[in-house]
Amino acid sequence: AAPDVLRPRKATVTSAAIRSQAKSPFAPFQRDLPRIPELVPNISTRTRDTYAMTVREGLAEVLPGFQTPIYGYDGVYPGPLIRAKKGREVVVRQTNALPFDTNVHLHGGYVPAAHDGHPMDVIAAGGSFDYHYPNEQDAATLWYHDHAHGRTSKTLYYGLVSMYLLEDELETELGLPQGEFDVPLVLADHAFNKDGSFRYAENVDIGFRGDTLLVNGAISPRMAVQRRRYRLRFLNASNARSYALRLGNARAMVQIAGDGGLLSRPVPRTNIPLHPAERVEVVIDFSQYGPGEELTLYNVDTEAGGGTTPIMRFDIQGGKASEDFRVPTRLRDPEPLPAPTVRRRWDLALGSAAWQINGLSWDPNRIDVRPRLGSTEVWTFVNNSGRVHPMHLHGFLFRVLERTSGPVELADRLGWKDTVGVLPNETVTVLAWFAPYKGKYVFHCHALEHADKAMMLQMEIV
Ligand code: C2O
Ligand code: CU
Repeated sequence: AAPDVLRPRKATVTSAAIRSQAKSPFAPFQRDLPRIPELVPNISTRTRDTYAMTVREGLAEVLPGFQTPIYGYDGVYPGPLIRAKKGREVVVRQTNALPFDTNVHLHGGYVPAAHDGHPMDVIAAGGSFDYHYPNEQDAATLWYHDHAHGRTSKTLYYGLVSMYLLEDELETELGLPQGEFDVPLVLADHAFNKDGSFRYAENVDIGFRGDTLLVNGAISPRMAVQRRRYRLRFLNASNARSYALRLGNARAMVQIAGDGGLLSRPVPRTNIPLHPAERVEVVIDFSQYGPGEELTLYNVDTEAGGGTTPIMRFDIQGGKASEDFRVPTRLRDPEPLPAPTVRRRWDLALGSAAWQINGLSWDPNRIDVRPRLGSTEVWTFVNNSGRVHPMHLHGFLFRVLERTSGPVELADRLGWKDTVGVLPNETVTVLAWFAPYKGKYVFHCHALEHADKAMMLQMEIV
């Protein structure tokens, strides 16, 4: 049989590795949280940082003692993190060493259309492309991933994903935690074959569900923390699983940012829903706990009747904590927006064979909507199905105005978003701002199996 190009080569696992497992490799809290490696620029000038990465196969130690074959940026999972500064351009030369097309989408970024990772704009095997990112928007937790059409459910699952942290001066003025106290966390659910390789089973209805939660590529890890406040940045990098984050004993977290960056003010929360592709930044105050105490962060699995699964554990250390910070009462003031000029409605429903938007499947030769540059529009997503559809707009941000499942979460009203989970039989209305670039972009459901099967339309900003 022909090799499956959308599955990395087979794992090689020694019986010694299997025998050396005293406990199940799936037991939680066996490993320290892996920190995502940070990429160093090859060249830095006064106005620009230039990086290079190779998209290739690699091996990752996900299960202790096993080597899991992956696709990875620079061969690692999650890929290397890029730390960008507002006002400084970033150029990333991506070289494709995979045997098939790939491309890179900077999710949440204001990026000119030619550099956005449009699904038809791909880097052929052996080729390379320089992505230019202007970084003119405010600080935000962005992320990047493959977007070649029709295969993202597999390529992201096998590892083509990482974070891109855009920073700005306001964060410094606010004194937000930095360095080891600012922790990016990539969540994803996976399943495994006996040889330690990732197992993927396609489900075009609900999308993939794995039985194991990974944080930065490790199964429910532990993280040693000082008795002080930390900034934690969560990304839901799952194909299709929605999470609800909850600390043990429903202790409070303070949300300071969402997809599009800082909120106008902090919001204390005990339960934070996180749909595929959404990001949330929280501050957790570990000074309230004693040395030796352990605090677990759980996922409340609403699909499985509200059972909880540990995501990770924080182990409170003794000794003196380094200097703490206070959560400011105000964060980023909201920008005034032009009044909306147009209203549009998008019906999300199962067509004859696939999920569709307004009865349409993806067609790169068709432009489905032409918003005007700089304008705002009211978009209503009507979900006529029993599935969650996390709807995402490329290139632009929006505000959530209304939802029929209940009031819009305060934190979602106080900041920008680029993805919104439209719940079963729910209608969600957003105000989208089509600034600052013209050109062709896409919007789609971020349940990757839905997007691959063409639940995606094209917009041209004119
Ligand atoms: Cu995160 Cu069109 O994607
Ligand atoms: Cu969907």
